Order: sequence, then structure tokens, then C-alpha cells
Amino acid sequence: MIIKSIHLTNFRNYGRLDLDVGPSVNIVYGNNAQGKTNLVEGIYVASSMASHRTSKDSDLIKFGENEYTASLEMTDDDGCSVQLSACYYTERSSLSRSGKAGRILIRDNATISKMSEYLGVCNIVIFAPEDLNIVKNAPSYRRKFLNTLISKVSPSYFNLLNSYSRILAQKNALLKSIKLSDDKPGLIDEQLNFWDFSLADLSAEIILMRYRFAKLISDMASKHHGSISGGKENLSIEYNTIFGVVGALETFLNKNSKYDEFMHKGLSGADYGRIKGILSDLVLAKLKSVRNYDIDKHISSTGIHRDDIIIKLDGLAMKNFSSQGQQRTAALALKLSELEIIKMFVSSTPILILDDVFSELDKTRRASLVSSMKDAQIFITCTDKNMIGEEIDQMGWSKNADFFCVDNGIIEKKS
Ligand SMILES: Nc1ncnc2c1ncn2[C@@H]1O[C@H](COP(=O)(O)OP(=O)(O)OP(=O)(O)O)[C@@H](O)[C@H]1O
Ligand SMILES: [Mg+2]
Repeated sequence: MIIKSIHLTNFRNYGRLDLDVGPSVNIVYGNNAQGKTNLVEGIYVASSMASHRTSKDSDLIKFGENEYTASLEMTDDDGCSVQLSACYYTERSSLSRSGKAGRILIRDNATISKMSEYLGVCNIVIFAPEDLNIVKNAPSYRRKFLNTLISKVSPSYFNLLNSYSRILAQKNALLKSIKLSDDKPGLIDEQLNFWDFSLADLSAEIILMRYRFAKLISDMASKHHGSISGGKENLSIEYNTIFGVVGALETFLNKNSKYDEFMHKGLSGADYGRIKGILSDLVLAKLKSVRNYDIDKHISSTGIHRDDIIIKLDGLAMKNFSSQGQQRTAALALKLSELEIIKMFVSSTPILILDDVFSELDKTRRASLVSSMKDAQIFITCTDKNMIGEEIDQMGWSKNADFFCVDNGIIEKKS
């Protein structure tokens, strides 16, 4: 997929932007706070309705406005035109029918009601300073990394996550209301059994995907990390979920000699049914064992919504023990593994965005990043275009690169 043009309306500091871009390397430069990141964020949002900087849709709307639109005109690998358009409106917008905020997703002039049909049309991997959060911040950042990656290669996973969140919200609402209501304990138990049964079933499917992709990330990130750091340290990733579940899954795979098949293409048929049943029973038992506590505290204290991936360097959790430089290298290795996994599962080469990343990387790390980018369409933001001169020469980009200067929300193409 190649982006031909980008169209933004009331997105961050852009009132209206219609920009034709080049098919290979697009270098977006300008002083601080002019709109470089906003532009690449607009591209990413148009492709996935998600931002790498915020989880609040309303942050993306230009101050004082009530809706934004971010659209891409593209050409797919067969030369056919593809359009994607993502819109978000607040409850005050004229687009709001029921007085609520909402989203409109359009693909090739047709409205798309399911996000899973929108995701995966245009795959973009973004490298940004925020990647460091994956290594050093709260588990939610690592879950987002894992969830975004798996959703890109498997839209059905996105649907599973959505169903899980919806049911969890319903169960939480019930847990919150228990104190207020005078329902009989038997009735409460019956209702909680119903939600827990659904949650356990969905959890088993999500766990299978998360375990498999965490292993893939671990293998690939470790390889990239080795080549960036000269093999001095070993990076590994461990999937951390409800106690006992990973052990049961590994026992099943080893006992039935299914590990390679599972890692290669996942399990199917009877094997999938059996392991799903085992995991679902384990999750259900765990949810039941914490029920009284959860009723007392009005929360869902246990479940895959608390999952994490533990990033370790030479066996020690990086979050607690590593330096800034080590964390930066690990974050880069994780993102390179994302790029490689998407290439493995999706036939078209992903588009790459490098938002302000070169300034923080040394020569070796820059070279690792650049060498993973052959043949891709790339967007690079920087404050000084001369700062990336070496990479431009190294990749033979000088002939193909397009330059764009950003000044206070106005973008001018430069030769
Ligand atoms: N919702 C919004 N509406 C209007 N302006 C916004 C909105 N959100 C952010 N801005 C402004 O957009 C401007 C440009 O931000 P952006 O992050 O794109 O800068 P940048 O060119 O990437 O700068 P830097 O080189 O520092 O990374 C900032 O002044 C910011 O305050
Ligand atoms: Mg920026």
C-alpha cells in the first residue's frame, strides 16, 4: 500500500490540509511545535483510528471545533485506488444524532460499522519517543503494544477484545450495584456465573493469541537487540497472565508435541477446542475463587485485563533495573519485531513513520532502524533535515526523497 495524499480537517493544529506525498521517503522538517508530529499522527489515525500519543479522541480535534476528519488516498499493490477516512465528533457536533460523541469510518465511500473491517487495510508501524513507555511505564502500555500488534495481523482478535471489554464493563456494573441492591445472594451468584462463563471463554482465546505473539516478539526482539547491542546482553519477553494458565498451556503443547504447529500457524479443530476448554476452566475457577473479594471491593481484581509482558534483560525485569539507554535499545528492538511480525503475516509491506526518533539514537541504532526499511514508504520527521543526511546517503534516498517544510500548520513541498 502506498499513500498518495493525506487530507486533514480540524485535526490538531490543521484547519484544512490536502497534501500529495511521495511513494518512497518523505522528510517532514520544521521548528518545534509547528505540526510535524500532528501530520504523522493524522496519517496513523486515518489508518487505525488510534493515536500513538493519546487515547482520547477529543484531544485530536482542533481547539474550539467539534469534529475532525483524517483521510488517506492510497494505491494498493495491484495499482487499485483505496480510500480510508476516520472521523470523530463530540456530542456538540452537528454530526451527533443522539446527543452522543461518535466515530464514522469510511472505506472506499462506504461506511464501515466494524472496526475490524477497517483495521488491516493500511498497516503502519510508527517509531516515536513514546515507545519508551512500553519498557518503562505501566502494564497498560505493554498491553496496548501487544493488542495493537495482534489486531493488525488478526482483526478477529480485535473483535474478541471488544467483546471482552463489553462483558467486563457489564460485570463491573453489576459488582458496583450489589451493595445498593437488596437482591438475593443466589440471584447475584447466578448473574455473576453468567458473566464469568462468557469472560472465561473469551479469555481462553485471547490468552492463546497473546502467548503465541509474546513468544514471537521475544524471539525477534531478542535477535534485533543482539545485533544492535553487539550481543552483550540478552533481551527476552515473558507473557504474564492469570497464575497457572501459562504452565497448563505449555504442558498441553509439550505433551501433545504441538508447540511448533502452535507457533507456526496456531492450533485448529479438536486441539484448539481441547486447549480452549482447559484454559477456560482454569480462568473460570480463578474468577470464582476471588468472587467474594470482588463483591466486597466492587472490582474485577483478576483477569486478562490485568495481563502484562515482562521485558527482561539478562533475566532481570527492565522496568526496575535498566538504564535509559538500555530501555531505549529494548524499545527499538520491540518495535523492529512489530515490523517484522507484520511483514510475516501481512503480504504488503507496512508503511513506516519515524517521528523524531533519529535525534535520540546513536549511529548503530540508526543503522539498525534504517536497514529494516528497504522498499517501504517512509515518513520521517525532524527539526533539521541535514541531521539525517547520512541515512539519506546510506540508503540511496537522495534521488527519491520528497521534502516538506512545516510552519505553523502550513506545509510546503520543497525541492
Ligand atoms: N487539538 C489541538 N488543536 C490545536 N492545536 C493543537 C492541538 N493539539 C496540539 N496542538 C498544537 O499543535 C502544535 C504542533 O504540535 P506538534 O506536536 O505537531 O509539533 P512538532 O512540529 O512535532 O514539534 P516538535 O519538533 O517539538 O516535536 C503545538 O503548538 C500544539 O500545542
Ligand atoms: Mg514532534
